[in-house]
Amino acid sequence: PADPAYLDLDALERQARELLPPDVVDHFAGGADRETTLGEATAAWRAWRLRPRVLTDVGPVALATTLLGTDVATPVGIAPWAHQAMAHPEGERATARGAAATGALVTVSTSSTTSLEDVAAVRPTGPRWFQLYRLHSPAHTDDLARRAGRAGYTALVLTADLPVLGRRLRDLRNDFALPAGLPLPHHPPADGTGPAPAGTPRWTTADIARFADLSGLPVVVKGVLRGDDAARCVAAGASAVWVSTHGGRQADPVVASAAALPEVVEAVGTEAEVYADGGIRSGSDVLTALALGARAVFVGRPAIWGLATGGADGVARVIGGLTGELAHTMALCGLDDVRAVGRDAVARAAWR
Ligand code: FNR
Repeated sequence: PADPAYLDLDALERQARELLPPDVVDHFAGGADRETTLGEATAAWRAWRLRPRVLTDVGPVALATTLLGTDVATPVGIAPWAHQAMAHPEGERATARGAAATGALVTVSTSSTTSLEDVAAVRPTGPRWFQLYRLHSPAHTDDLARRAGRAGYTALVLTADLPVLGRRLRDLRNDFALPAGLPLPHHPPADGTGPAPAGTPRWTTADIARFADLSGLPVVVKGVLRGDDAARCVAAGASAVWVSTHGGRQADPVVASAAALPEVVEAVGTEAEVYADGGIRSGSDVLTALALGARAVFVGRPAIWGLATGGADGVARVIGGLTGELAHTMALCGLDDVRAVGRDAVARAAWR
């Protein structure tokens, strides 16, 4: 395919860095502790090499798939990320519009600056999931799960890798604080300080079925990095597991998503869907993840820089750019359907 909207993510990030205050950039871009996980994320996808097929009579590349029964036009979705009004005045609404324009799935965070009902009211509407944190009282958290079900979200994502907040040294050095008055409609009054989960409800695998019952939605467990954990989650009723290091913002150093994905896929088999995020920055990164068994991938920072620089259009450019690169890379590799990318499409780089 021609490439009219060539996506230069590095240039986009540079542009966003000029628009946003330096401590906000650090908050968005940073990781935890020594940022080892953050630094290795993209490189870990690129430790794999594509194995193109020839003479396979490829037609136009089919990019559409389903995620837990929800139709999406691309396997590249938007990861939940907090406090979006800090990046752009239209915040989560603009992200939802940008996602809808590309047919991509958007995940709305508990720590959003727009209520889940107000995001659901954005038109045109697109596929959307709600992400739940264990930040507050059980009664409040249960209520959020019920509200997500009522508002038309089609899955509930339990973020399981934040039992306590990671140690984000850039924020500590900058003495970073959320802007006064930043709305956090899902946080009960008197909270308002963002993720500060000390002393809040404990979650176990028993909560998976509980939240599925409360919301009436399939449950995705986000932040899984081990095959044994993935199997436990699925046995407890999870419909999908989402391999993630939380963008390198929680435990550090941890295994890269690209390294954990094959073991999780093997443990889960065909019992549940598997997704991955962390450091996905190109169409070939997406294709590598699909080949390793992910049904979809999600992006965090690229969507942040897209929103900051261009609102809904910026988000659509990022998703459209990555999806266009994926289609192009697939065509080069003799592949024409994202639902039929096999493990044989990649091999570990062996030249080193
Ligand atoms: C996040 N992430 C995140 N995850 C989550 O489940 N709920 C949340 O509210 C947030 N908030 C958040 C804020 C910021 C600024 C970042 C960078 C990340 C993690 C996110 O969903 C995702 O796992 C990573 O961002 C994916 O990695 P990349 O694409 O940013 O490398």
